[in-house]
Amino acid sequence: MDRREAVVRAMARERLITNEELPEDQAATVALRPRSFDDYIGQQEVVRPLRIALEAARQRGEPLEHVLLHGPPGLGKTTLAHIIRHYMGVEVIATSGPALKRPGDLMGLLTNLKEGDVFFIDEIHRLDPAVEEYLYPAMEDFIVDFVVDKGANARMLNFKLRRFTLVGATTMAGLLTAPLRDRFGLVYRMNYYTPDELRAVILRSAKLLRIEIGEDAAAEIARRSRGTPRIANRLLRRVRDYAQVEAGGVITREVADAALRLEGIDNAGLDNLDRALLRTIIDVYQGGPVGIEALAATLNESQSTLVEVVEPYLLQIGFLARTPGGRKATLAAYQHLHVPTSGQAGQPNLGL
Ligand code: ADE
Repeated sequence: MDRREAVVRAMARERLITNEELPEDQAATVALRPRSFDDYIGQQEVVRPLRIALEAARQRGEPLEHVLLHGPPGLGKTTLAHIIRHYMGVEVIATSGPALKRPGDLMGLLTNLKEGDVFFIDEIHRLDPAVEEYLYPAMEDFIVDFVVDKGANARMLNFKLRRFTLVGATTMAGLLTAPLRDRFGLVYRMNYYTPDELRAVILRSAKLLRIEIGEDAAAEIARRSRGTPRIANRLLRRVRDYAQVEAGGVITREVADAALRLEGIDNAGLDNLDRALLRTIIDVYQGGPVGIEALAATLNESQSTLVEVVEPYLLQIGFLARTPGGRKATLAAYQHLHVPTSGQAGQPNLGL
């Protein structure tokens, strides 16, 4: 991990609503992770075709073709890799792009795969180009080439691998090289969950964790979870703590609201940093457009934190617009923050 990325991650960790996986999520994620399609909520545009491809492969007695899953973090890409492996009755070997530093790291894992195993590479867009080269023949022909001996005696040896399924996950499909992308037979985009789907995820998690919660309280948490099950499950745990200490263990809609408010999360799922960014654009830059450098300087944040951690959701819900001239706060942002849109400072520059 380079310094810039370390900073982005540290920043993300301080935010309750980050969609990065935090250490405390890991145990909970494993406990709550659905093991079959029957338990998996949402993502039907991915689940339906994937299920057919899996069933067809299973009937033919073949491994599934390589699968690329792309989309924002926290939507269940790793979970799908595990569902695939349960469906096929095989093992999963999981790694990530940045963890495979040298071709030897990749070789070690590939040569240990058994027939049909799922080889899961998270953040596959961050593979080192030298490592990626070795992945091509492995994916296409299930062989790896390596050079033995040196100088005049150097020879290329082919090593035959067992047929496996590569499941690649990425938040940045656009950064994948064309040769890598082309080697995936199945490519699916994961989308943000609807509030109804998230409510169902929360009710399922609550049942597994033996948390009593009403439909309307679950809906309240769902509405503030940024379309992301990982965040929904994290907020559910915070609301449970609050209910236990402050409300006799009963989670009503009001209790959920009070707990989330205490965490600084408003009714659109925005936290302090989200609001600070929008307020800066509105109060300091008259609604924008403002360049990211100026915004970062005013907020005393790194540009990459703003671009990778803060902005994606604000863009998605239409509170922020990115224009060639810079960032603008939209009318919806003004309304959400209860800032008048005419008259005094903060008059929006809505020339969209
Ligand atoms: N927990 C996290 N994501 C889930 C999903 N898509 N379905 C069911 N439970 C989940």
